Parts: sequence; structure tokens; C-alpha cells
Amino acid sequence: MSGTNAHVILDAYEERQERENVFFNPPYLVILSAKKEDRLKDYARRLMNYLEKSALDPSEIAYTLQVGRSAMEERLATLVSDIEELKEKLSGYVRGLKNIENLWYENIKNGKNVKEILLSGSSADKFLTETIRRRELETIARLWIAGTEIDWLLLYNGRTPRKIALPTYPFARERYWISGEESHKNIDFTKSGGNGYLHPLLHTNTSDLSQQRFTSTFSGKEFFLADHVVKGRCVLPGVAYLEMARAAVEHAVGSGNHGIGIRLKNVVWARPIAVTDDPVNLHIGLYPEENGDISFEVYSDDEYEKDEPVVFNQGSAFLIDDIEVPGLDIRSLQAKCNQKIIEPEQCYEIFKNQGLDYGPGFRGIEKVYTGEGFALARLRLPSSVSESMDQFVLHPSLVDSALQASIGLFTNIENNGAKPALPFALESLEIFGNCSASMWAFVRENNAGKADSGIEKLDIDLCDDDGNVCVRMSGFSSRILEEDMDIAKSSIGTLLVQPCWKEEQIGTEKIPVTYSQHIVFLCEIESDIESQIPGARCICLKSEAQDIGERYSTYAIRIFEEIQSIIEGKPESNVLIQLVVLLDGEKTLFGGLAGLLKTARIENPKIIAQLIGIPSNDLLIEALEANMSSPMDTEIRYMDGRRHIADWKEIAPDDTLIPWKDGGVYLITGGAGGLGLIFAREIAAQVKNATVILTGRSALNDNKKSVLESLKSPDIKVEYFRTDVTQKDAVIQLMRRIIEDFGQLDGIIHSAGIIRDNFIIKKNSEEFCEVMAPKVAGLLNLDESSKDLPLDFFILFSSGAGPMGNMGQSDYSCANAFMDAYAGYRKALTDKNERHGKTLSVNWPLWKDGGMQIDEALEKMMQQTTGMVPMDTEAGIRAFYQCMDSDQHQVMVMEGRIPQMRLSLYMSEPISQPETLKDLKPDDANC
Ligand SMILES: NC(=O)c1ccc[n+]([C@@H]2O[C@H](COP(=O)([O-])OP(=O)(O)OC[C@H]3O[C@@H](n4cnc5c(N)ncnc54)[C@H](OP(=O)(O)O)[C@@H]3O)[C@@H](O)[C@H]2O)c1
Repeated sequence: MSGTNAHVILDAYEERQERENVFFNPPYLVILSAKKEDRLKDYARRLMNYLEKSALDPSEIAYTLQVGRSAMEERLATLVSDIEELKEKLSGYVRGLKNIENLWYENIKNGKNVKEILLSGSSADKFLTETIRRRELETIARLWIAGTEIDWLLLYNGRTPRKIALPTYPFARERYWISGEESHKNIDFTKSGGNGYLHPLLHTNTSDLSQQRFTSTFSGKEFFLADHVVKGRCVLPGVAYLEMARAAVEHAVGSGNHGIGIRLKNVVWARPIAVTDDPVNLHIGLYPEENGDISFEVYSDDEYEKDEPVVFNQGSAFLIDDIEVPGLDIRSLQAKCNQKIIEPEQCYEIFKNQGLDYGPGFRGIEKVYTGEGFALARLRLPSSVSESMDQFVLHPSLVDSALQASIGLFTNIENNGAKPALPFALESLEIFGNCSASMWAFVRENNAGKADSGIEKLDIDLCDDDGNVCVRMSGFSSRILEEDMDIAKSSIGTLLVQPCWKEEQIGTEKIPVTYSQHIVFLCEIESDIESQIPGARCICLKSEAQDIGERYSTYAIRIFEEIQSIIEGKPESNVLIQLVVLLDGEKTLFGGLAGLLKTARIENPKIIAQLIGIPSNDLLIEALEANMSSPMDTEIRYMDGRRHIADWKEIAPDDTLIPWKDGGVYLITGGAGGLGLIFAREIAAQVKNATVILTGRSALNDNKKSVLESLKSPDIKVEYFRTDVTQKDAVIQLMRRIIEDFGQLDGIIHSAGIIRDNFIIKKNSEEFCEVMAPKVAGLLNLDESSKDLPLDFFILFSSGAGPMGNMGQSDYSCANAFMDAYAGYRKALTDKNERHGKTLSVNWPLWKDGGMQIDEALEKMMQQTTGMVPMDTEAGIRAFYQCMDSDQHQVMVMEGRIPQMRLSLYMSEPISQPETLKDLKPDDANC
């Protein structure tokens, strides 16, 4: 499971219910074992802490520990009726209490193997089998701690609870490296008679039944740490993770080919790790994926953050057989180097000034030649680490020096990057051959990456003297360090991002995906695709209605009902849903239906859903077929004959813009709600002689009345009108009344909204329509009825659920995504002078003091999966003014730990950000 995004696949709810009733009644026999007593105590403590933070089923804990962990010598068993009792018992044990009722512990060496002593042969087996079958749990517990092997499955009569994630065995943090000066030397890990480590970056195999894992302990004296000093601290170089992943995969799959044929992709460096006084334990976990890839995560459980081990790096690997070694013509590249030449002394001086102090082992650059848009560097493995050449495939000194060579791309190298940058992401790494002691690095800009996302990306080849490429890195990006070094302090900040389209062709490496169903929705497109795409079922979305909002809602309901019936059918394998919309005038608004598809994908991972935008029918078949092999892309557009996928670009807020003015008249729909009142208060605080009109469907209660009274002053008028924005006539009436009573309207904030959270499987179409109405019909009514007014702004309070999807919020995501799409459409109308004022759709995250709230458990889940925290009012208002200052029509605001939020955006996986979910249980999703 990744540190940022979690997909949980669960059995059907009904079945579990049945099992619980029949088999999983208390008491539960919970067991733990370890190699030594202190480890056992530690293990019990960790389990206790874990239980404090997670709501778990005691039968699942018991079962997981019985069958999912190796039994070691030091053993503990306890009988409990619930989690509270388990916590209490473990706490007593950890505190050293004796004679705890129904808790037993012993080392099997001290105990007697009862089975062997008291019974032998078939009678022993019969006795054990009967004892287990009759669920004589106390006897079983005592037998187990005495060393008797128990067939736990007999307890369950063929139907077991689920296995769940629980803390794994706490390996002792013992120092195993050679002390003092010795450890600085390069040890030959590969020769027998060495210290037995598998690899300098992969010390031991610590796999257990729950995962394939390797663990290493670094003292900081290893050359790759000692010679890689960032801001005065020994930081594990980003390239070391690449070699670690390569080596781990090689060990796991038994490929003896030094990594040739292993490819890494989508590698993300979540945060750097520095080794200071204490040694650092790092694990790399490998997780086989359904499509044959192997995901990996480098993490440390020395440190826990929000119950999760801290993840430093993640990505995935896959193997290929067919390797064709690409070649470079070094001589001709050198001939094109007509710009500056940078000497190594100059390079390392510049790096040092930036805070990157490379020791001798990391000074691999001999010369950097530069040409138009590229750099060519001569590299040599430094003599201080030459003995380690054979120990690595991706030697950290050489690969890091290749990254250093990017210095040649900067025009003003002395001033460039006054702050150090560390690796952030790498799209792919291919290994064609072993590195050699002398190499060339060819570094050039990845122009597609820069043009589309604004992020500088590089492609880097490392090749031998004959030009044979040994390592190819594509789409490498780095980021300024500053913030990340403070990550331990968990700096909370605001991230503003705008949607953008990134040009991306479908890779040549076809992912072999098979689907049990293929459904194609054509949105107001006529075509006979069933005869052209074998196996596809086509549903044409058509309506006689003139009103775009009505058509949008009709199609959304049709798609929702279809998805619901797919989920009800409990598909065994992936179902592909492709929805095609035309990028043509108001039809572009159907792009908002992506919100529904993304939610379906979050709620049920078997649903692979894509929204494909095409300019005309001509591309239809080609686009449908091509995207079938790219299941991770959820939103695709063909523009100017090229394929683009939806992406995010950060906005660096320069300034703020306060849009209210003295004497202004402002309308806030849903104005008596949480955010409506926050913004009414803000307007009142900022300007004089203003009028704020709040609307809602309900009559004001006494509490709301007194809040509104408190906003009024001789300077500020506050009015509340009961108006349902979904009623066209009522909205027209409202506009008339505002102009008659106040003479003008200067800005509208559309904040009206409702939620009816429920998983697709449980939601009904009426709820769906209810949630859509204020944001679809309501928005259209407001815009139509104000189109001739000289507004300064027209602001839509949308949600992150729109662009990202959100569990339980298929309707809400679809409604908000319509508002986002409409913002773009209205902006285009203002460009043609058919509307007035800035249009902006703000995708808000959860506000601390908004009306829509979540409970503590969901808040915790949100923090774990996305790094996001509820935003306080001050940060929200500041973000609003920053959004107003941007020239965008849609901005998503995120509040939380910036690196983790960036990571979740970069991974562009569906992330769930519970904004309002209160009573949803994941089991209900029927995944
Ligand atoms: N709070 C957050 O954390 C958050 C996060 C992301 C996005 N948002 C968005 O920000 C907006 C405001 O959120 P909030 O927290 O202030 O929610 P809230 O406290 O529930 O307020 C929403 C208001 O909208 C009104 N409303 C609903 N349907 C209406 C209709 N058909 N016509 C007129 N008024 C209607 C409701 O009043 P009546 O029932 O009296 O009509 C209610 O007072 C929502 O659109 C929401 O989607 C909020």
C-alpha cells in the first residue's frame, strides 16, 4: 500500500455479516511472538499503539496474527472479548504486570511441548484436533505458548475472517556495521567471507508472510552518504534509491543479469532522508501488481507519521526480454558543443555555494561541454570509490554525476538555483548494460514535459566510450530543497494548482489489460462503433431537451445507473467504461461527467473509466482503441491532432486581489451556510457602504438571525432572501428585486450546495438529482439571469471532489465538475463580451469552519492518504484572494503537507479526500 493513496479491496458486506454471526463471536484468541522477550514487549506496544489509532475487528486481528506471522520462541497469547480488553491486557503486559487474567506468555524453551510429553502419535493429533474444533481456546493458548504447533484453520471451519494490515515484527535496531574507520572503507559485499550483506544498499532479506522486503541500516559513513552532504547533513542521494530498487527486484525475481532488462517507472522521491547521529533503518517493500509490474516503496518504521511508516521513495518496476541497446554518436555530439565548457572545479564550487557539498566519491565530472539545449559530460568513477565499481549496476557516483551534468543546461550557472535541488520524479529508467569507470552523460531538456506542465524535465543517457547507452533516464525532474528539509516539522501550507493538459502519446510498451466488459457512452455523437470495436457495447446519450443543464443531468443519471448495475453484477475482472464527448462549444461542458467516472473508479477499482474529448467524429474509433491500453489515464483530450491527458500545474501566488469595493452590492447564494457567512463577514470587514445579499431555501432560525444581525453595521447592509436557485423564475425574480432595491449587482458567489453521501451501489437517482440541481440548474439560472449585468466577478464555490472524484460523492463530484467546466465556458463568453466580470471556479478543500464537516476518523484518513488537513478560515480567505489574482478560471486549493499533496497530484491516482462523508463504511462500496 502506498504511503499516499490507498485502494482497499473488500469482500461483499452481506457475506461478512453472515460470517460474523456464525463464527466470529468472542472470545478471540490473540497471539504474538518474537525472538526475545524485549522484542515481544516492543511488538505488544506497537500493536497497542496501532489499536489506539485504528478501528479494527478483533476477529480479524486474531486471525491475521494466527496465520499471517511466523511463530517465534518468545510467545504471548490472550483471550479477549473486544478491542478495549485487548488494549488493556497488552498494556498490562507491557507495564510488566503479573498474573493478568487470560493472558499467558512463555519462551518455548522454558515451556514443555505438551503434545510431545503428554501425548504421542495419533492420540496427540486427535486430542489437538478435537481441542481446536471444540474451540477450547484457553487450552489452545496454553499449548501454543508452550511450543505446540496449532492448525489455526481448524478453528474456522472453512470460513475465515479477513487478513488485515497490522504492525509487523519489530526488528531490533542493532548496529551491525564495522565500527570506526573500518566502516568508511568500501567493503566488498559480494565476496563470500564479507559481512554477508546482499548488496551495499540492500543488507538483508527481511521478508515475512505479509510482504517481500529488504532492510538496510546506514550509519552515515558509507561513501554514498559521507560524500553527499546537503546543507551540512549526509543525505542519501536520490540515485541510491534507484540502485536499491533495481537490486531488490533482481534479488526477488532471481534475475542474475545485473539488472539488464529491469525497468523502473514513475519513480517519486517523496522526501529526503538524512543520517545524523543515529543509524537509519530503511526497508524496501516489493508488491506484485495484477498487470505484472512490481511496485516498490522505500520506507522507514523508525519514524511513524499519522500511523504510517514514513515513505521516502516509491515507483514500480517491470522486466523486459527484448533489449536493443541504443547508441549515441559521441563525436558528432561533441562537435555540436559550441557553447561553454565547464571545468569540474567550477561545477563543484557552484554546487557547494548552493549547499550541495560533494565529497571525493561524488565528484565524477571531468568536464561538461554544452550545446544548444543539451550538455555532454565526461565522467570518471572517482579513485576513492573505484573498488566499489563491481558492487553496483547503477553506481551512485556515476549516476549522480550524470545528474550533476545538468548544470551545463543553465545559462547563468553561477546564479542559477541559489538553492539546492534534489530529485523529485523520474518517468522511466532503462538499463541496457553495466556502467563502466569512464562514461559519457548526455543530458537534454524533455521539451514535451516543460511545455505541458511547466516542470523542467530532463532526459539523461549514460553511455560508454563507444556510445553504447548503458542507462537511459527519461522525464527526470527535481525540486528545490528548502521545504523538504523541514519536512520533519511537517510544515502545513497551501498549494494552489490549475488544471492543464499535458501532451502524452501512448507508450510503445503496451500494457496487456483485459476487460470483462467494454462499455462506450457516446455523448451526442452518432456512430456505429459496435461493428468496428469487437466486444464493445455502445450507449448513445441523446436528449430532445434544449437546456444544456437538463441534458447534462439526464446523461449523468444514465451513466450513474449503468455503473450501478455493473457494480451490482459484482464483476470478476476489470470493466472498461469509455465516455466520449465532443470538444465543441457548449458540448464541452459534458467533460464534467469525468467527476462521476473518477468517483466510480475510486469506489470500485474494477471500474476503469475514461472520459475522452475529441474535436470531431473522425477520431472516434482511433481514440477509443488507442486508450484501451492506457487504463491509468482518466481524462484524455485530442487537440490539434495530438493526445493530451489532464494534469495539474502549480500556481506560485505572487499577490492577492481583493475583489470587493466600497459601495458594492454582492449576492452569495447559500449565504446562510458555513462558507457564505465567512465570506459575508469578510466583505463586511473589508469595505464600506456595501450590501451583502444572502440567499437560501429555508427560513432563518434564531441563531442564523442573530449571526446576520451581528454582521450589520451603519456601513454594511445584510439581507436574506429565501430563493431556491434551482427555480428559474425565482432567480429571475431575485435579480429584478436586487436591481430595484439596491440599484446594482457587482458580484456573485454561488455557494449553494447540498450533499447526500452514499456509495454508488446504495445511492438512488432522486438523491443524485437533488445534489446536482443547485450546481447545474442553479448555476445556469444565475448566469442566464445576470448575463447583462456589469458584474466584477462570478465566483463558483466548487470542491476538490469535482476534478479528483470522491468516495460516496458521485453526484457531488459530477455537479462540481460541471461548475468547473462551466467556468471555462463562461470565460469564453466574457471574451466575446457576452458576459461580464471575472469567472472563477474554486475547488475548495475541507474548511475547518465550513458547514460541511467530517468526523475525526475520516479526517485522519484524509491526512494519511493525501497529506491534506482542514483549512482554517484565515488560510482559506488568503487562498481566495490569491486565486482572484491569478488569471485562471479554475483553481484547486489544497491545504496540508505540501510534499505529500504534490506527490498525490503527481501520481495522478484517484485520491479520496473525504470532505463531508460522515457515515460511510468502505464495506458498503461493494468493491
Ligand atoms: N465547507 C467545505 O469544507 C467545502 C469544501 C469544498 C466545497 N465546498 C462548497 O462550498 C459551498 C458552501 O459550503 P458550506 O460548507 O458553506 O455548506 P453549507 O453550510 O451546507 O451551506 C450551503 C448552503 O446552500 C444552501 N442551499 C442548498 N441548496 C440550495 C438551493 N437549491 N437554493 C438555494 N440555496 C441552497 C443551503 O441552505 P438551504 O438549505 O436553506 O437552502 C445551505 O445554507 C458548497 O457549494 C460546497 O459544495 C465547501
